[in-house]
Amino acid sequence: MADTGPEARPRPHSRPLRFPSGFLWGAATSAYQVEGAADEGGRTPSIWDTFSRTPGKVLGGDTGDVAVDHLHRLHEDVALMARLGVTAYRFSVSWPRVQPTGRGPAVQQGLDVYRRLVDDLLDHGIRPLLTLYHWDLPQELEDAGGWPRRDTARWFADYAGIVAEALGDRVDLWTTLNEPWCSAFLGYASGVHAPGRTEPVAALRAAHHLNLAHGLGAQALRAALPARGQVMISLNPSAVRARTRSPQDLDAQRQVDALSTRIFTGPLLHGAYPADLLADTASLTDWSFVRDHDLAVIKHPLDALGINYYAPTVVSAATDNAPPRQDGHGAAERSPWVGADRVAFHQPPGSRTEMGWSVDASGLYDLLTRFHREAPGLPLYVTENGAAYDDRPNAEGDVHDPDRIAYLHAHLAAAHRALQDGADLRGYFLWSFLDNFEWAYGYSKRFGAVYVDFATQRRTPKSSAHWYARVARTNEVPEP
Ligand code: FCB
Repeated sequence: MADTGPEARPRPHSRPLRFPSGFLWGAATSAYQVEGAADEGGRTPSIWDTFSRTPGKVLGGDTGDVAVDHLHRLHEDVALMARLGVTAYRFSVSWPRVQPTGRGPAVQQGLDVYRRLVDDLLDHGIRPLLTLYHWDLPQELEDAGGWPRRDTARWFADYAGIVAEALGDRVDLWTTLNEPWCSAFLGYASGVHAPGRTEPVAALRAAHHLNLAHGLGAQALRAALPARGQVMISLNPSAVRARTRSPQDLDAQRQVDALSTRIFTGPLLHGAYPADLLADTASLTDWSFVRDHDLAVIKHPLDALGINYYAPTVVSAATDNAPPRQDGHGAAERSPWVGADRVAFHQPPGSRTEMGWSVDASGLYDLLTRFHREAPGLPLYVTENGAAYDDRPNAEGDVHDPDRIAYLHAHLAAAHRALQDGADLRGYFLWSFLDNFEWAYGYSKRFGAVYVDFATQRRTPKSSAHWYARVARTNEVPEP
């Protein structure tokens, strides 16, 4: 039926937002969150298997043992992606599936899984973006010391080389690490993520060894990949806002910016840890775990930078009656913000997603333009962006998620604005293709564009999936 109501008519000046040709319209997942098949094909436990099987660590005792059974449904899931018109798929390889001991020989069966996935994607004209590490460290390597141990960086590079040898002929977009901030500080300081340790200095060591792993891993990728292979890292830089312009609040902002973002971009882009970060943490460590030449290795030139963005962070200097600390990733008793004891975190007013994260697309604009200024000429990708809502099928079995459409719309408009202001943004990956295992929240948070009935594994594209399909098909974001 033709809709001729006044609200259906285009507004006088509304024009769709056109994206550059060749822009990638992607969707993202990660191995532990979707694959399942936890004990198959010689796969050994990762730190997330151990953590989620430990009572009290994950809401409802949920684990990724079955997840959304993606590994057994690769073919139908890729076909669904193709129907939804996504032009790129970001997935991660499960380290313990391809190299069960974390440092021994590779298992062919594990590599074949990803070869089949990639071939299927390419057959459907979908460009693969491969993440090497999305938090599932082989448990054996954690038992040997985990990321606070320097050797883990070297083992990661060996693993990177193995995967590049196996898939480098057919995958040209590679990201080494996903959100090393979470691996280091949620894994080793607040302990709300695997391996659940609460050792502030270990978290700083982990952050450095993750940086080193990126550098050594990037070298291993270059050695194995053909010239067209592009190497990036996916960070979750914070868009940090100070609650007031007082010197104390601005200093809180500076501290959190150093701990969340510059601890990675300092060495990656500029070859040095920021002096203020070293000063802020001086009572904890002298950073002597940073050895000669590490910084030169970490500053390995990137082909692109991946940015994951969900919500801004609002801080102030702590007062005695400051509200409880929040980090947005779980109920932490210990702070992930090592050395920033006098910082308070605040929920800004306005709408929030089901995670309690505030909806504010200006943070994405700020980050894209910041890195455009800080690393001129470096191509950028939004490797994750999306929102959890309490989606439910209606009586007809359809899932309408207008809040997610509004969220995506606002963030794509922000991305478009950054493009107009010069940022070399090459693609956008919606988190997530499917509802999945949301870490410490288990299956209680739905981020998918495709609804998954966790009991039957039935997939139902939500309205947002159809909306996004149209964006991908037309290369335009419509007016709301
Ligand atoms: C990011 C993670 C991703 C997903 C989203 C919601 O921090 O990289 O796996 O959990 O948050």
